[in-house]
Amino acid sequence: MIFRMESVNLVYDIGKEAETYALKDINLSLDGDRFIGIMGPSGSGKSSLLYALAGFKIPTSGKVYYKDINYNKIPPSESADIRRRDFGFIFQRHFLIEYLTVLENVLVPINDDSREAKEKAVSILDNLGLAHFASKKPYQLSGGQRQRVAIARALIGDPKVIFADEPTAALDSTGAVEVMKFIESYKKDKMIIVVTHDHSILKNANYVINMFDGAIASIGKSRGGI
Ligand SMILES: Nc1ncnc2c1ncn2[C@@H]1O[C@H](COP(=O)(O)OP(=O)(O)OP(=O)(O)O)[C@@H](O)[C@H]1O
Ligand SMILES: [Mg+2]
Repeated sequence: MIFRMESVNLVYDIGKEAETYALKDINLSLDGDRFIGIMGPSGSGKSSLLYALAGFKIPTSGKVYYKDINYNKIPPSESADIRRRDFGFIFQRHFLIEYLTVLENVLVPINDDSREAKEKAVSILDNLGLAHFASKKPYQLSGGQRQRVAIARALIGDPKVIFADEPTAALDSTGAVEVMKFIESYKKDKMIIVVTHDHSILKNANYVINMFDGAIASIGKSRGGI
């Protein structure tokens, strides 16, 4: 098992009037080499689930394991090491650094500007159709191109797991299909976990977790557990 969650609750504003269960009694096991979707209405806990799996958010109660490591039992620096070594992240907004070139942005997570690293970055950019953009700045790119740079940045460290939180939200439908095609092309040897509102980008998902009100409403092959 790659990920396991046991009776996980993530509660905000405990004791206050507006106490919110971002995650409510989540039990979940995720195996390797899979493309998993997370869907649900706004505020249903999708991002919370993703960030709890990645060890960014430590639950109020319950346990989250990555490969039998309980995030609760290790210091934050160690879970940061795990993320650096094993995880890649793609966010809704690309968060590229505007004063760095495309190539430099891709190299940020590995903090390495050796020739080998640069060649690797160029080859990933090439695979993403961005070979000619390496020395450009983010503002010179379209939204879809910027999002592909963010994907290259997520892939540079050879992650075992790619976490994507609404990776296509800023794109039109053509751009979304394009970006998902690139992300999916990596699922052969990686686990891909994608949060989205758009079920059409989860056509090839192995399964989809449907969230509602902090809880898992259903797990199915496609939207609504059909
Ligand atoms: N830092 C916080 N403080 C208080 N409440 C929070 C915080 N972060 C999230 N929440 C609440 O937790 C619940 C789940 O939030 P989450 O971001 O996981 O939802 P989501 O499904 O990703 O929504 P969206 O589709 O809008 O991104 C929401 O009710 C939200 O208001
Ligand atoms: Mg969210």
